[in-house]
Amino acid sequence: MFIEWNKDYELGIAQIDEQHKHLIDLINKLDGARHSHSPKECIEKVFLELINYSNYHFTLEERAMKNENYSRLDLHISSHDLFVQYIHKCYYKNKKNDYFAISDALKFLSDWIVDHIMVEDRNFTMILLDQPHHDQYQKAAHR
Ligand SMILES: [Fe+2]
Repeated sequence: MFIEWNKDYELGIAQIDEQHKHLIDLINKLDGARHSHSPKECIEKVFLELINYSNYHFTLEERAMKNENYSRLDLHISSHDLFVQYIHKCYYKNKKNDYFAISDALKFLSDWIVDHIMVEDRNFTMILLDQPHHDQYQKAAHR
């Protein structure tokens, strides 16, 4: 497994934690595809899954941040955008048979996601957890 879920990554907001777990699953799926030397088309699908799912997850996070008038919202959106742009770049590299597409993506993703969860997302969820209405984000997470 490329990235193993670690208790420290849990932020205490069920929806966000579940979605982060799924993002890590997708990163591991990309690593699995690399190890099994999957054809380019399969790797393309994993990249698309990653792009679609991260867009879905980021939208949820950003909506919650807007609702809470989070002061670091713009910075946070830039960080999400950087992620999506980089994965797009790797998706096209893979399309052009660039051998480094997956390893570049994995390197970037593993650094980015752990740092982002532990610092930026944590910063927001700490504020959210102080709000009495944070319950609304604790409902069964959906993917
Ligand atoms: Fe985030």
